[in-house]
Parts: sequence; C-alpha cells; structure tokens
Amino acid sequence: MVQDVTDKLQTFRRVLVTGGAGFIGSHFVRLLLAAGISEIRVLDKLTYAGNLANLADELSAPAVTFIQGDIADPKAVAAAMAGCDAVVHFAAETHVDRAILEPAPFIQTNVLGTQVLLNAALAYHVRRFVHVSTDEVYGEVLVGAVNEAAPLRPRNPYAASKAAADLLALSYYASYGLPVVVTRGANTYGPYQHPEKLIPLAITNVLEGKPVPIYGDGLQERDWLFVTDHCRAIAFALADGQPGQIYNIGAGNHRPNREVVRAILRLLHCSDEWITYVTDRPGHDRRYAVDPQALMALGWRPTVSFEEGLRQTVAWYQQRRDWWEPMKQGEFAAYAARNYGSRQRMG
Ligand code: NAD
Ligand code: TYD
Repeated sequence: MVQDVTDKLQTFRRVLVTGGAGFIGSHFVRLLLAAGISEIRVLDKLTYAGNLANLADELSAPAVTFIQGDIADPKAVAAAMAGCDAVVHFAAETHVDRAILEPAPFIQTNVLGTQVLLNAALAYHVRRFVHVSTDEVYGEVLVGAVNEAAPLRPRNPYAASKAAADLLALSYYASYGLPVVVTRGANTYGPYQHPEKLIPLAITNVLEGKPVPIYGDGLQERDWLFVTDHCRAIAFALADGQPGQIYNIGAGNHRPNREVVRAILRLLHCSDEWITYVTDRPGHDRRYAVDPQALMALGWRPTVSFEEGLRQTVAWYQQRRDWWEPMKQGEFAAYAARNYGSRQRMG
C-alpha cells in the first residue's frame, strides 16, 4: 500500500525519524524502507513506550541505523541529523492519562525537545521538517469537523504540549524560513500500539481475562484512523506538503468508545458483561473531528475501513502475546495501579 507514495519520496536520500521505535514511527520506518529510501536514521530515547521489537526486521536492513538518544539533547540530535535532507518528528510523550498524572515529561520532550530538533534542522539546512501532531490540539469539537484555521483549545497537558510544539514549529517557518509541515492526525490504532491506549488495552485485557474499563458514560467520540493510512498521509505531507502549512488527517470513522469496545468484544466472542464503567477522566474531551480536505487535495485517501482495521488489529494481538505480555508487566503495572486504582466502579 505504499505504491502511491513511493515515487513521491524518491527525492529524499537520508531521512531522520524521531520516535521511530514507537507505534506510528515504527510503521513509518517500514513505509520508508518499502519506498526504497537509501538511508533511514531512527533517533529514539527508548522510554517505556519505545521498543526495538517494533523494528525487529527493519533493524537488520542496511538502510536503517538506530541511534538511542534524547531529542532534548543537542549533541545527540546533531549527531543524528548531520547530513539528513528530511526530518519526520514523531518522538513524544503521548498518553493523556499519564499527562494528567505527571505533566513535566510532556513539556520537556514535546516542547523543549521539539525546539532542539528545530534548531538543528536550521543548522543542517534540512529540506523538509514534518512535525507530527494531533487533532487533540483543537480540543473538543462537539459538532461538525474543524479545518486547519480553527483555534487551538487544548484541554489536557498532552494536548497543550503538542499545541505549543506546533506553534513553535510554525514559528520557525515564519521567522527563519525552515520548511516545516505540521500534520494533525486523529486517534490512530493498529499493530504495535502500546497496551496503555484504549483499543490495545481492551483487546489485551480480554485476552488476559480482565474487564475492560470505560471512562464515564463511554459516549465520547473519536475518529479512528488505521496506522498505515496515517503513515501514508504523513508521507504525502513529506513529499508534497507546502512549507508553513498544516494538514489534518482524519478517516471519517467516528465511533463512541462504547461502540469501539463492543466491536472488540464481538470479535473476541465475548459479551458486554466484560465492560466496567469507571470514574471519568478529568477534563475528558467529548469529541474530536477534523476535516482532511487539504490533505485529500494532495491525493491522499484513507484505504482501511474501521471494521477491517479492527479485525486485523485484534488478530495481531491474538497472535503476538510475545510482544505485549512483557509490556503489561513492570512499569505498566505500576502506572495502571496509579491510573485505574484511583477510579471508582460506576456500574
Ligand atoms: P508512542 O508513545 O508509541 O511512541 C513514542 C516514541 O517516542 C517512543 O518510541 C519513545 O521511546 C520515543 N520518545 C519519547 N520521548 C523521547 C525523547 N525525549 N527523545 C527521543 N525519543 C523519545 O507514540 P505514537 O502513538 O507512535 O505517536 C507518535 C507521534 O504521533 C506523537 O508525536 C503523537 O503526538 C502523534 N500522534 C499520535 C496519535 C495516536 O493516536 N497514537 C494520533 C495523532 C498523533
Ligand atoms: P486513548 O487511547 O487514551 O486516546 P486519547 O485519550 O488520546 O483519545 O483513549 C481513547 C478514548 O478512550 C478516550 O476517550 C478515553 C477512553 N478510554 C477509556 O474509556 N478507558 C481506558 O481505559 C482508556 C485508556 C481510554
């Protein structure tokens, strides 16, 4: 499915992917490899969310180099970026519940780390800097869908840190002419997503024989974007995006959380009794919805339906217990006790 972007990416020789050992970044490394990019550098700190197993096959390819380092460390960034003609920046702290428990790492990585990367990109004259952001920067969109001119109204520390980084990135275009493109993707799902996020949490909990916690009434709505469609969208923005522009990425798969979890339970032949309603997330955004017309004008279209994407995702987690079981121990268990331990059962 990378056919439609392969030709477009041929002008890039050496691409730096930050956060390439995480969920979406690792799929993007696969896309670049399939497109025949001759040198792909991955810079990743390997936080709790980074996992070299996500790149198990790709790391043996001669085109791929892995560098363990922090994007907030100017020396590590300089070493990784020297000679690159493009940067695709995924590295971030990404989980809203963790941001509510402890915001500081989100400011450090998402804001300060992004600034270190932008400075280096200027110094090395990169031809394109894609800053991968999220639809959460717009805050709640209760009706319709917003375009890129909508005001930013982030309502949790994760979304606020991403909004700050977006504005910084765009300021480097306006002030210094750095060819920055910002993408704002919707909730993404698929293989290799950390089990802290709703869809993999629901699947793996059921596979472990545990209930699935739904926050509040479960009627909060997200637009679910399959990970390979998100990566193709980023590739379109990398190849053809206008410097200084923002591109929303949405698939039009709006579903209330309750319906998402029920669909997973059906795929696993389980009843709704597996659901436990628990105390809501503070400041829980009711609905996100973006209009992806600008990106569609570049030729991008989502290709994976929610039903097909969810079927593939459930099948992957059923087959890859070796991948997720270790991730649900240790650090995750401590976080989960903190996050879920403080929530009351609602029914
Ligand atoms: P993830 O949490 O799975 O991976 C993040 C990666 O960044 C990990 O490999 C981690 O080790 C690395 N990292 C964290 N801090 C770092 C640092 N200081 N230096 C270097 N590496 C560091 O995240 P994801 O879900 O793949 O998201 C990737 C990007 O896409 C993020 O910028 C996120 O805001 C954005 N995004 C995600 C979604 C989604 O639903 N997952 C939707 C829209 C946008
Ligand atoms: P999440 O996967 O954390 O993504 P985000 O907060 O970035 O949208 O959560 C998706 C939705 O699922 C969100 O509305 C919160 C809800 N949710 C639950 O109801 N229970 C859970 O255990 C988790 C992790 C999320």
